[in-house]
Amino acid sequence: MKVLVLGGGAREHAICWSLASSTLITKLYCAPGNPGIEKEALCVDLDIENNKEVLDFAKKNKIDLVVPGPEIPLVNGIVDELKQNKIRAFGPSKAAALLEGSKKFTKDICNSAKIPTAKFNFFTEMAPAIKYLNTIAFPIVIKADGLAAGKGVTIAKDINEAKEAVKNSFNGIFGTAGMKILIEEFLEGPELSYFALCDGKTAIPISNAQDHKRVGENDVGPNTGGMGAFSPSQILTENLEHQIINKIINPTLKELIKRGTPYQGVLYAGLIITKEGPKLIEYNVRFGDPECQVLLTRMKSNLLEALIASCDQTLESFNIRFFDESTLTVVMASKGYPGKYIKGSEISGIEEAEKIRDVKVFHAGTTKINNILVSSGGRVLSVTSKAKTIEDARSLAYKAIKKIRWKDGFFRSDIGLK
Ligand code: AMP
Ligand code: GLY
Repeated sequence: MKVLVLGGGAREHAICWSLASSTLITKLYCAPGNPGIEKEALCVDLDIENNKEVLDFAKKNKIDLVVPGPEIPLVNGIVDELKQNKIRAFGPSKAAALLEGSKKFTKDICNSAKIPTAKFNFFTEMAPAIKYLNTIAFPIVIKADGLAAGKGVTIAKDINEAKEAVKNSFNGIFGTAGMKILIEEFLEGPELSYFALCDGKTAIPISNAQDHKRVGENDVGPNTGGMGAFSPSQILTENLEHQIINKIINPTLKELIKRGTPYQGVLYAGLIITKEGPKLIEYNVRFGDPECQVLLTRMKSNLLEALIASCDQTLESFNIRFFDESTLTVVMASKGYPGKYIKGSEISGIEEAEKIRDVKVFHAGTTKINNILVSSGGRVLSVTSKAKTIEDARSLAYKAIKKIRWKDGFFRSDIGLK
């Protein structure tokens, strides 16, 4: 079987690493990939946000399955186009990917299916939004409706911060994605990322993770794509999971079936566990990054078979299994991230880090210049470990990080501590 993975981050490295162990695969491609992925797959230079380019490559190379990693190809409808051309594709249709593509769409689903979520107001113009801010209490959350590369959410402590966020959004800081906004109730409680694998009819839990979104230790500073994660979360009890499935995941899937756009692929629910129970703050239509790294390191089942079961609607009889161990990942980023940072800084010691048992270093923003590995992005490495407990996995990941030499990098030293 020939498989093409789309993306070039640590999430896609984890996907390729996991797929590469499947004996069913005769050829694994990744576009665009990265120097870490190169060890698992043949990296090809494709613009993955251009459906035609991906489709042409898939046809020409007789690809049997395409696995998009990030949200943009999914929201662009790559799955529909591939399927129309009789090529299996893992993930939601363009219509169902609106769960991530439009926060207002998700709120409408929550409203129709009575799913617990933060209360909100929706604005398409600046003046009424500003006027509304004068009538409410703070903190409050301002969200761009569309895709904003994880930067579209501001938690405003006071009216000045809120006004600035609203103005920035309508002045085009997020392009068209920010021309519609939600002003949303601030929810208090721990956060949890919950993942289900769906085939349009059936959803099976594929575990959970806790992400560390803020750039600084003790959760201070601006939001990032994620500075580390661990799985499973310690806060997920059986009762809580029951509530998440029955009050949030299943009603969402039923509502989408009712609307004629059933959901296939990974459904990633961003939740806040409030005193009144779990509430949905967002859906993503893909694996999280860095959550994917910890989920796939814990997965015992064959990933390829799981993805095919999602595409072929056979999840009902699929027995997904996970290791009992815990996994943890620490992201190493370029100094300055999520603001400005330099590129091209040399990195070494990864092989030594990986000599430690149950440690795997996934690449994100790396490239090779004259055969030397250098940084090329904000988030650069995802140092991942598996051990009996979260504490043990933590020690292992930090032990591995000590082996990595990179003068322009930094990481949070408190991943998994809370
Ligand atoms: P999102 O991009 O929707 O995941 O939001 C980014 C981060 O903002 C989340 O991980 C939360 O930490 C925070 N956040 C989003 N919505 C809310 C909310 N309604 N109440 C409190 N925090 C929120
Ligand atoms: N780690 C957050 C995300 O993938 O959206």
